[in-house]
Amino acid sequence: MIREVLRMGDPRLWRVSAPVERFGTRELDGLLQDMRDTMAAQNGAGLAAPQIGVGLRVVIFGVEANPRYPDAEPVPYTELVNPVLTPLSAETEEGWEGCLSVPGLRGVVPRHTAMRYEGFDPRGRPIRREVTGFHARVVQHECDHLDGILYPMRMTDMRRFGYTEILFPDSAGEEEGAVPAAGGGGAARPAARRRPRRPRPPPLRELPPRGRALGRPCWARGPVGATGASARVASEGPGGAPYTRSCS
Ligand code: NI
Repeated sequence: MIREVLRMGDPRLWRVSAPVERFGTRELDGLLQDMRDTMAAQNGAGLAAPQIGVGLRVVIFGVEANPRYPDAEPVPYTELVNPVLTPLSAETEEGWEGCLSVPGLRGVVPRHTAMRYEGFDPRGRPIRREVTGFHARVVQHECDHLDGILYPMRMTDMRRFGYTEILFPDSAGEEEGAVPAAGGGGAARPAARRRPRRPRPPPLRELPPRGRALGRPCWARGPVGATGASARVASEGPGGAPYTRSCS
């Protein structure tokens, strides 16, 4: 069932979510079904349970590959419960993000470049991956929701926060309401059936403020060295630009 996505200002988005204590339950399956439906309906790249008003440590994310955006990094569709994130270095990089809870806006957010994430799938089987680039960004964004953090709270320069249609006029039409979507971790999942249209990444020269060194936008990044179990799964979701779209 498609659920309403809470928007910034709703106090439920500031809460710290509780760990899931039992796996493989009907309740958890139902929650994940609703999250998949909601993310697909919003064409999102990710969604955290608190965004639909459920205070549990559950996130889903995924971005499919798209030949139109070869630089975009696909992210395998993943359902992650009780995640624990560990930065693999102190290195950070900036990239544009958006969020279904902050609709119509985009901002540049510094994130760790390489992360390990651990947790469980909905059946309680362990997940452990080391990822970089956009995959790492998506995970950090989604897991922040579990601690009551929205991406604007991570921003360091509010001049690089604004309305999508102003920041990226070329892609505004495609972009609004179009957050990256669930990828397809290979399996045919409901959320993966819907092939989100990826907004066209704006040329670098149009990134505001003009002429300023902004850091590379996430969709412009080169190949990610597949670290560890990382996640370059070929049939995965529309990558990169997501963050022009948004993530959750
Ligand atoms: Ni979000």
